[in-house]
Amino acid sequence: MLEPDLKTLKNQAEADISAAKDIKELEAVFRRHQKEINLLFKRFSKLPESQRGEWGRAVNLLKRFLETTVSRKKEFLRKVESRIATSDFFDPDKPGKMPEIGHLHPLTQTKREIISIFASMGFDVALGPEIEDEWHNFDALNIPKDHPARDAWNTIWLKPPAFAKASAGKQNPRLLLRTHTSPVQARYLMAHKPPVRIIAPGKVFRYEATDASHEAQFYQLEGLMVDKNVSAANFKAIIGEFLKRFFDKNLKFRLRPDFFPFTEPSFDVAMTCLACSGKGCPVCKRTGWLEVAGAGLVHPNVFTACGLDPKIWKGWAFGFGWDRLTMMKYKINDIRIFNSGDLRFLEQF
Ligand code: FA5
Repeated sequence: MLEPDLKTLKNQAEADISAAKDIKELEAVFRRHQKEINLLFKRFSKLPESQRGEWGRAVNLLKRFLETTVSRKKEFLRKVESRIATSDFFDPDKPGKMPEIGHLHPLTQTKREIISIFASMGFDVALGPEIEDEWHNFDALNIPKDHPARDAWNTIWLKPPAFAKASAGKQNPRLLLRTHTSPVQARYLMAHKPPVRIIAPGKVFRYEATDASHEAQFYQLEGLMVDKNVSAANFKAIIGEFLKRFFDKNLKFRLRPDFFPFTEPSFDVAMTCLACSGKGCPVCKRTGWLEVAGAGLVHPNVFTACGLDPKIWKGWAFGFGWDRLTMMKYKINDIRIFNSGDLRFLEQF
């Protein structure tokens, strides 16, 4: 009848000793169990004489067990504590430090947001190469060689690769870092029969001096919609809807006549500068308006260059500077900070 009581006490003492994490905790465990054992000794006098001998031996064994187990654990903890104090002791039980996890760059975050807005309006995503050939970047877009319009895109030309020089006599295309995402229009129209509705986000490069709103390497978002019955009114509606959803408010934007060889008519899209709420600042060159896109109706020569009949197909296209959209969204007053690698800036997103 008494045996199971003592066994339970022994098991409990063993578990408590093993759970003690430091000497202070261990001493408290020892005192608690010692008290219980003392109570057991007190029961001794109440037992019939015939049971006293056995009872005394059992309680003494329990007492010794408690003392030796505690002293062994104390020895162990002492060693651990002195090693922790004197060296870089590795404690496998300690929870590890969480490694810092990076997050998406603000431009990647806005790219994803832009894609999801256009996807909800039925636009697919198309991509093109950053190293482009002259034909797709210019010729297919109705910008013939030696045409002064080419100067508008301060092109970074690439040296022909060694293998191209070696294949003497063969005409290799001149290569460049694409100056805009518009060549994706040509690539897509040559490979897909309309109707098409695409956006093409990507990096572009220009040999340009930088300032608060100009970078030499920046991002554009091309948009293209081609069908049999497409007009500038569709464009205005889609852009208005996009800007409303992206900025989460009805903001003012305006279309002004512009010139691009690959669209006719052409316009630029400017919106109220949100960096200064239209008051004027270095980002908007103190005008209160920031040009965020070029756009227009697809020029018939572009359809012809891509093998499509301009009498059948109509379309519109736009090219947003998506760094500038991000600047407006988060009221960032200098485009150059995106590529600065400054963590004080990046950690705010
Ligand atoms: C173009 O690049 C045309 N491909 C856009 C286009 C597409 C017109 C389709 C018609 C049809 P533009 O050079 O204006 O156009 O550039 C378009 C947008 O890119 C500008 O409105 C501006 O928001 C942004 N941008 C232009 N240059 C820079 C720069 N250096 N740094 C940052 N953003 C720029």
